[in-house]
Amino acid sequence: METGKVLDLDRLTEEVKTLAVSMGHFLKKERLSFDRNRVEQKGAHDYVSYVDRTSERMIVERLHDLCPEAGFITEEGTGSLEDQEYCWVVDPLDGTSNYIHDHVPYCVSIALRNRKEILLGVVFECGRDELFWAHKGAEAYLNDRVIHVSDQAVLDQSFIELGLPYKAVQYKPFALEVIASLYGRVGGLRLAGAAAAELCYIAAGRFEARIEGFIGPWDIAAGSIILKQAGGRMTDFSGNPDCFDAREVFASNGKIHEELLKVLQSHKKLLEN
Ligand code: IPD
Ligand code: CA
Repeated sequence: METGKVLDLDRLTEEVKTLAVSMGHFLKKERLSFDRNRVEQKGAHDYVSYVDRTSERMIVERLHDLCPEAGFITEEGTGSLEDQEYCWVVDPLDGTSNYIHDHVPYCVSIALRNRKEILLGVVFECGRDELFWAHKGAEAYLNDRVIHVSDQAVLDQSFIELGLPYKAVQYKPFALEVIASLYGRVGGLRLAGAAAAELCYIAAGRFEARIEGFIGPWDIAAGSIILKQAGGRMTDFSGNPDCFDAREVFASNGKIHEELLKVLQSHKKLLEN
């Protein structure tokens, strides 16, 4: 992948789709004989297993073959090299806690980034064998079907996903106020436990929004372009489009964004302590 070269995003996306599906099948196969004694703890309630690490190593090897010049930003740190013009942003297993407990959703998430711009994203959700994908200049897909965000513009009817990050002490005051503000004022609140898949659910029109702070780039990179190409919107809790630096993700169908943003902004000072 030389500097200035025009990338064949169609071809690369096809390769990444094949990889994500095969790694998803690997995760499912490993789950059948999963050994909970081999789970390690990275931080408070933040776990990693040998399956995450093995899967990441295999993904990095394949992506490196595909584009030897590209760097890597990966959840488990394999081949970490973040300063390249092009970087793969990889979560080999998003929803690790769900996986450990044999619960869904959990998924493989792979994106290609050119500096700050995401060029392509692929998410394979293993529980329902759902492949979400999109690249710059094209539509977003679930398997072979084009997807769009919902038209729901009424907050009272909106189905909202929340994420509770591992940094509980820092996030809890904000999260509790957001829940207090929304509970009873929206169509439903849900916690699913796999950020990458949940962004795709907004893209597919199943949910209207998702809110989480202290999020990693691997959790949102692929989902961000899938959501964008499906007509959605993603900002931080102040309304700025760069979620990656802020490590805050407020994703929506666009239609309820401003109204919900006011709720987030009214509690944002709780994140500053
Ligand atoms: C986590 C999941 C979870 C979100 C956490 C993420 P992991 O990723 O996406 O839904 O709330 O903030 O870190 O650890 O399962 O890959
Ligand atoms: Ca992960």
